Amino acid sequence: MGIAPENTDEESLRAFAVQLQRIIRATADTVAEDSVAAPLIEKVTSHLKVPLAQVVVVAQELEAWEHATLQRGVDKYLEEQGTDPAWFGISGGQRGHEDLMGMFAAARRHGIYELGAVDFATASIGPEEVTEAVQLGLVPTTAPDGTPVIVGIRGPGGMHGPTICRFEVLSESRAAAVAARDRIEQLMRAHDVLRGQVLAFGVSENRGNQMLTFLPRPDLGGGDVVLPDGVLDTIERHVVSVADQSARLLASGQHLKRGLLLHGPPGTGKTHTVRYLMGRLPETTVIVLTGTAMRFIGNAAALARRLQPSLVVLEDVDLIAQDRSTTPTGNPLLFALLDAMDGIGNDADVTFVLTTNRAQELEHALTDRPGRIDLAVEVPKPDAEGRERLFRLYGKGVELTADLSQAVAETEGVTASFVKELLRRAALISIAGDPHGTTVVVDDHALTTALREMNESRSTLTRSLLGSG
Ligand SMILES: Nc1ncnc2c1ncn2[C@@H]1O[C@H](COP(=O)(O)OP(=O)(O)OP(=O)(O)O)[C@@H](O)[C@H]1O
Ligand SMILES: [Mg+2]
Repeated sequence: MGIAPENTDEESLRAFAVQLQRIIRATADTVAEDSVAAPLIEKVTSHLKVPLAQVVVVAQELEAWEHATLQRGVDKYLEEQGTDPAWFGISGGQRGHEDLMGMFAAARRHGIYELGAVDFATASIGPEEVTEAVQLGLVPTTAPDGTPVIVGIRGPGGMHGPTICRFEVLSESRAAAVAARDRIEQLMRAHDVLRGQVLAFGVSENRGNQMLTFLPRPDLGGGDVVLPDGVLDTIERHVVSVADQSARLLASGQHLKRGLLLHGPPGTGKTHTVRYLMGRLPETTVIVLTGTAMRFIGNAAALARRLQPSLVVLEDVDLIAQDRSTTPTGNPLLFALLDAMDGIGNDADVTFVLTTNRAQELEHALTDRPGRIDLAVEVPKPDAEGRERLFRLYGKGVELTADLSQAVAETEGVTASFVKELLRRAALISIAGDPHGTTVVVDDHALTTALREMNESRSTLTRSLLGSG
């Protein structure tokens, strides 16, 4: 058909209009591709060797706390590909709200985004250690098969931005992009910054998002934990020996996953014992959940499985695991906890340590079924011998001249943390009485005074709690 219609019946006119529309569109696209060769687009298309319209994107979203690991994975990948890392960034516009292709399209059509500098953010890699990670940036490299690809990183956050991070692989070939993504993920797992760390889930102050913090690993000696004879041994055998012998146990068909419940009154050393265990397992990843963070049990279990050998510590679990009969509809958090414990395969070298001071109220499902909890240990108040050891332990830094047998007799029924606090107060009293002395002498007077104060404040608190003054 010619450009100008010879007969002007309606059908021919419509056909003409359709053709004309196509021509106009094609012209507009050609102009856009050619004339606005923005440096940002040019950078991408010249490396990938295809026009933008033919670029394939493979994206992967990750939890916010994977940012540093993502950076490591990409760094290792660039190294492996022999790429000189020439990162570039994007400036302008509403960065953070669009994916890379969206930004390129906007850059082409409206010139909103431009080639710019790479944005960096800091990401934790240890209790006191941070690293620089690309917050928004791209780097040209190759897929494992040599096809040109561009890897883009987007870190988590911004005030209103997403709480995930993501990376994208751009290429002419989907297969090449997928292969590059898979390799980056493998390298991330091999160089995971979370592995072997002590981690605690919490809730961030702004927006209530989940957060993962690194904690220093405690280093307590066996002598620092005062428990009745054999108790610490039993606990250690259960947790540490299995870890030491994991290969042999697995080979002989024994399961590795284990659950330990520490129960006893407040201040008797449940948390203290867990801290001791953390120190005894220096290579083990530890994930601690306390209070409201318990709702991240699903995340915690997934991390534990991935980063094994690992120890999942659930503190004061009675807060969520009260007997089902007390909550007619059942407690969803408890089910999440049980699911998470069940969901970790028996061959996983994962230990769950639960602490509570209300064991009898714990859901039967949690305590009775083997495979969830297979050892329950009572952490009791110290007996006379235990109290004497505690006086010596927490009196180590002072000159203890008080009559210990009397102090031990007078502290019948107190907890370990009470003895610790008693010595601290006695030391304060001693210092107050001798402000210029060089040593701190805890004598009978200091100890008796401190004990009287503590007993009084205990009963005052009890009285005020009971509302009688
Ligand atoms: N058995 C113990 N041996 C030595 N020190 C102890 C012991 N128990 C408690 N302490 C001291 O008292 C502090 C508080 O104890 P801890 O936090 O372990 O108590 P808990 O049993 O976990 O109590 P809660 O049920 O309230 O959580 C510890 O940090 C430690 O310094
Ligand atoms: Mg505790």
